[in-house]
Amino acid sequence: MVDLRTHWLGLALPSPVVVASSPIGDDLDALVSLERAGAGAVVLRSLFEEQLIDEQMAAHRFIDGQVDTDAESRSMMPESGMFTMGPDAYLVQIRRAKSALGIPVIGSLNGTSPGGWTELAGALEASGADAIELNLYDLATSLTEDGHDVEARQLEVVRGVCAAVRVPVSVKLTPFYASLPSFAKKLRGVGATGVVLFNRFYQPDIDLDALDVVRHVRLSTHQELPLRLHGLALLSGRVDLELAASGGVHSGDDAVKCVLCGAAVVQLASAILERGPDAMRSIVAGMTERFDTMGYERVDHARGVLALDKAPDPHAWERLQYVRTLQGWRPRRGGKWK
Ligand SMILES: Cc1cc2nc3c(=O)[nH]c(=O)nc-3n(C[C@H](O)[C@H](O)[C@H](O)COP(=O)(O)O)c2cc1C
Repeated sequence: MVDLRTHWLGLALPSPVVVASSPIGDDLDALVSLERAGAGAVVLRSLFEEQLIDEQMAAHRFIDGQVDTDAESRSMMPESGMFTMGPDAYLVQIRRAKSALGIPVIGSLNGTSPGGWTELAGALEASGADAIELNLYDLATSLTEDGHDVEARQLEVVRGVCAAVRVPVSVKLTPFYASLPSFAKKLRGVGATGVVLFNRFYQPDIDLDALDVVRHVRLSTHQELPLRLHGLALLSGRVDLELAASGGVHSGDDAVKCVLCGAAVVQLASAILERGPDAMRSIVAGMTERFDTMGYERVDHARGVLALDKAPDPHAWERLQYVRTLQGWRPRRGGKWK
């Protein structure tokens, strides 16, 4: 039977299937069940920059009453009741998860501006986090901050977090970079050990009756997987970073595809939120079965065998596939287009 043991961020994992950052990490019983079902590690929910800055400002207001913000900027701050867990409770949760589990526990920070909040990574480490996942969920809205500026700002955030800890740091990215490989290479340069591909973009809808924006989290389907497979294949073997897939993994075969494209680990949120520990069990079992059929003895041997580093000119190869795909399209029999 294939050996699923692997390494992620230098940590030894019993399997490459990881619980993604989400509310699942709040529930210790669920985490224990997921470990028994085959999880290789767990990432706790995020602590947000906005939450940490708000706490710091509240402390300043309390101490000298001098720090204040105008009404407009206050209306842009999240209400303090919005967050499930403050920083202190979060550190307690890391300690509790560490003592309840044998698998690595990864803390998550989430923010996009350089500043003192990144030092909190050190407190996560001191509470026992085996690694830090830094989520750079960032959508450019400025007319004056160009792509280079956005990347420089994000790299400062990563540098700040990496400087605050000795444990490894992985960076969770959105798919929207002019050059993902070049940005990934720069992430390595400022100290990151891994990247997680990708954040899901929580696209709002419009309520036409209320004439308002509707925001809700829709769980993923495996239709979101190809974007991740492409990102993995683009980076695997070409940058000195470990790769994780996040988004759209719902079956053992989905997980196998991620590994073939270069993932060291796959992360699950939606599948667990929908089906509980059974999702973990069936994905681990499905992976095992598929790798056995393919004849792999170790999951590590399959990593990256379908990655783009095998192509002598990845850019030309991408163009060729694009042209082939469009030119190869034929109407389905009976399909209507006129
Ligand atoms: C309810 C919910 C809460 C989430 N909270 C976080 C979070 O706090 N930090 C984070 O980095 N990702 C968060 N995510 C994103 C997941 O970690 C994951 O990247 C995303 O759901 C895609 O994976 P999936 O297709 O397996 O759901 C959350 C997802 C869901 C569904």
